[in-house]
Amino acid sequence: MSEQKNISVCFTSDQFEKYADGKSTVVVVDVLRATSVISTAFMEGVKAIIPVQTLEEALSYKGKEGFIVAAERNAKPIDGFDYGNSPFHYINADVAGKTLVLTTTNGTKAIYNAKEHKVITASYINIDAVANHLIDEHNDVIILCSGWKGVFNLEDPIFAGSLANLLLTSGNYESSCDSLFASRQLLKSAEGNLFNYLSDSSHRRRLKSLNMEEDTQFCLAPPVKSDIIPILKGDKLVVL
Ligand code: MLT
Repeated sequence: MSEQKNISVCFTSDQFEKYADGKSTVVVVDVLRATSVISTAFMEGVKAIIPVQTLEEALSYKGKEGFIVAAERNAKPIDGFDYGNSPFHYINADVAGKTLVLTTTNGTKAIYNAKEHKVITASYINIDAVANHLIDEHNDVIILCSGWKGVFNLEDPIFAGSLANLLLTSGNYESSCDSLFASRQLLKSAEGNLFNYLSDSSHRRRLKSLNMEEDTQFCLAPPVKSDIIPILKGDKLVVL
């Protein structure tokens, strides 16, 4: 058997500098909802996605031929943009062949913080394809949770536990990372029903207060699966 590779879990994008090693593959997750939206947009035929950090930068693309602009702050869509950050904005929408410019509260920041590494994005929509790709690639992995404004959230570490379980089961990986251990324990506590387990989580409550329970349900238990793995090439996410 070839040498086992390492997996670690970083709970927030602000902590990433403590994990950065310049060689690991970074899997960015913001399961509610940015990386679920990214998976959905590519499934609906988006050609590329440019994650940006500010509303102003995103708006600079508005009206340009072939571009659509989307923004979310505090889980709410922003006036003046074509789309928000709900996966349902992109399903059966006129996005095929377009380049999506996206800025969100946390997810696009996590991608930016990891941009010196190989960065791919993951969600429960493409988790199986991501796991298979990582196993084939046989590189160290950092699962980067987006968190919420620099602090821990529950849903991203639970996703990290799901992905870590797939990788560790392959026998090709090892880990001595407490964050990964905690993530797997959280997943176990959810007993297969993430929607219920996260009833009192901050972001589910935030989304519920905005009548977005459907988004939470979709992102935690998507009715569709995708083999598309978004990878960061320069300033764009494209299909691997
Ligand atoms: C984020 O990027 O923080 C999330 O995706 C926020 C959201 O859209 O719910």
